[in-house]
Amino acid sequence: MVDIAEDGRTWLLSGPASSYALHLTDADELLHLHWGPRIAIEDAEALARDPLPGYWPFESPLDGREEYPVEGGPRFVRPALSVRTEERRGTEWRFGSYATQGDNELHLRFDDDGITITLHYRMRGDVVERWVTVENGGHARVELLRADAATWTLPDRDGWRLSQLHGRWAAESRLTTAPLTYGEKVIGSRRGHTGHQHLPWVALDTDATEEHGEVYGCALGWSGSWRMAVAQLPDARVQITGGAGYDDSGLLLLQPGESYTTPVFAGLWSEGGFGGASRTWHAYQRAYVVPDAERDRPVLFNSWEATNFDISEEQQLALARRAAGIGVELFVVDDGWFGARTSDRAGLGDWTPNPDRFPQGLKSLADQVHGLGMQFGIWVEPEMVNPDSELYRAHPDWVQYQPGRRRTELRNQLVLNLAREDVQHYLWDQLDTLLSSAPIDYVKWDFNRCFTDAGWPGEAYPQRLWVDHVRALYALLDRLRAAHPGVAFESCSGGGGRIDLGVLTRTDQVWTSDNTDPLDRLAIQHGFSQLHPARVMAAWVTDSPNTQLNGRVSPLRFRFVSAMAGVLGIGGDLTEWSAEELAEARRWVDLYKEIRPVVQHGELYRLRPPAGGLSAVQYLRGAEIVVLAWLQAQSHGESAPALRLRGLDPAASYECRETGEVHRGAVLLHHGLRTGLKGDLDATVLRLRRI
Ligand code: GLA
Repeated sequence: MVDIAEDGRTWLLSGPASSYALHLTDADELLHLHWGPRIAIEDAEALARDPLPGYWPFESPLDGREEYPVEGGPRFVRPALSVRTEERRGTEWRFGSYATQGDNELHLRFDDDGITITLHYRMRGDVVERWVTVENGGHARVELLRADAATWTLPDRDGWRLSQLHGRWAAESRLTTAPLTYGEKVIGSRRGHTGHQHLPWVALDTDATEEHGEVYGCALGWSGSWRMAVAQLPDARVQITGGAGYDDSGLLLLQPGESYTTPVFAGLWSEGGFGGASRTWHAYQRAYVVPDAERDRPVLFNSWEATNFDISEEQQLALARRAAGIGVELFVVDDGWFGARTSDRAGLGDWTPNPDRFPQGLKSLADQVHGLGMQFGIWVEPEMVNPDSELYRAHPDWVQYQPGRRRTELRNQLVLNLAREDVQHYLWDQLDTLLSSAPIDYVKWDFNRCFTDAGWPGEAYPQRLWVDHVRALYALLDRLRAAHPGVAFESCSGGGGRIDLGVLTRTDQVWTSDNTDPLDRLAIQHGFSQLHPARVMAAWVTDSPNTQLNGRVSPLRFRFVSAMAGVLGIGGDLTEWSAEELAEARRWVDLYKEIRPVVQHGELYRLRPPAGGLSAVQYLRGAEIVVLAWLQAQSHGESAPALRLRGLDPAASYECRETGEVHRGAVLLHHGLRTGLKGDLDATVLRLRRI
């Protein structure tokens, strides 16, 4: 809800447990008042009466207190907005008006000599969504050098710590926490996509644990280059500023009447520790971000690790029969089905089935897969082109390039300039035709290289391709979803290179990492779960020894229980699995289908982080509880510690389906549940029900 004070210049947005307040001074300075536990409008008014400290020659009282610091005037913090017109640079705004929408949105309008800046706030549960619109109302040209989505201000506390999710290819979303010191910590991507290197998320706390204490979190919904700067200012105030684009060299040029709307930067405050913050993020994404989140995601088979580029209809069918036999619900043909794509050197751009490999097109295979009782899916990478392709031979100017410079090939491919309308039309046409040509239920949408030569010869303001590429991607996905409502989409970028709240508003799940080693995955999944729910986290069981990465040998049990923590998939070469392995796989898939509603839609409690010994997660949904536990190695003959469960009713009793034992809630909460795990790489699934 939104409360407005009598002065019409103090606003309070509240969710079930938290509030956010701001105030406009008589001099039109927009100050941050409060972000934390739920308060009343009278509390916000009291905070608004606190006078600003005075100006000094060397300090500004505005620094660390403004909602959206613009460039210009007495400000020395990082500006969220930097604008250049024919005459000048910077912003000196006057308040225009405010408006509310529904019971949870607030819009504040400011004007600066023909430029309109609107700050938007929307409360969704306890998540505050913020974004900004800048409109050129009269200038011949307005150059947006920087337009961040928001600046977040934290309350005065001693000893802030910063948590982030860093990584690289095959080692994404690893959690790290360190004390914040004076100055700025900047994370982001200058690669054109979200990147494997950082998930666009930070969390700040002073003394929180997994289940207790204050945590602030911020996450950006943008799938291109981005930046977040976490600043500890000279008087120890902390601000987080973020938005699209990595540097300040120019986002867009606004012609008269044109406007730019930033991505959404979402933030939350929780006093339930890191676990509480994650559960709020998960609930928010399931309710407001992920399409059709209430639907279960099917168990899929993906052919990539089994067959690589060497594929044919007959061989895919052999895999499909085995997949159907173990209970798979969605069969996905990965790379290699189209154009001259027999290796990564050719074919990207030509989205028609390879006639040697699929002489009857994809429809024949899709029909047979459907005949086996499974859905059918394919892999595409529409934003790319191999120089060795029909598309590139016909349109060498459709890629990003700098005139007179080398075109940098990574994985033998170039990036199409999706900002061009002819490229947008081509891709729409190809993909719409493809999805109409066969009964396709699912698309794995990949993006396998970064931008390097982001030029656009002939275009007056080539810089805009960074933003317009992402807009075109979103528009294409939205249009395809509308035209083919039965098709689900997965966001992939060499594994987890494009995972963010922006892409998740139009994809059903994400490929978490190309690393399918079940032990490495536990750390990746631990980081991923800080922000994103199990409902979108695709995870496959692959072969042992692991062929993709590290050659680790692991039991099928461990591989399954690791992948069952998210959306289960199988990615091994099933034609090589023994009858016993297939029978065991069938049992795990059946078990997963049973626990799936709890895993995919329940509340997640991280019981023990993956740190060498025993690790475990718990999902809770109504009366149902699922515990997944993994023992990496048993040392010194010691048995694995009991797992203290969370979120239970201490006065209730819980029956464990695996052992038949009945446990008191209070005992499970305080003393814990024994897992019986032993040896190396052991794992288990425990189901409990309140009785
Ligand atoms: C990327 C993906 C893989 C696979 C290959 C195919 O690396 O992450 O899962 O689809 O492309 O080329």
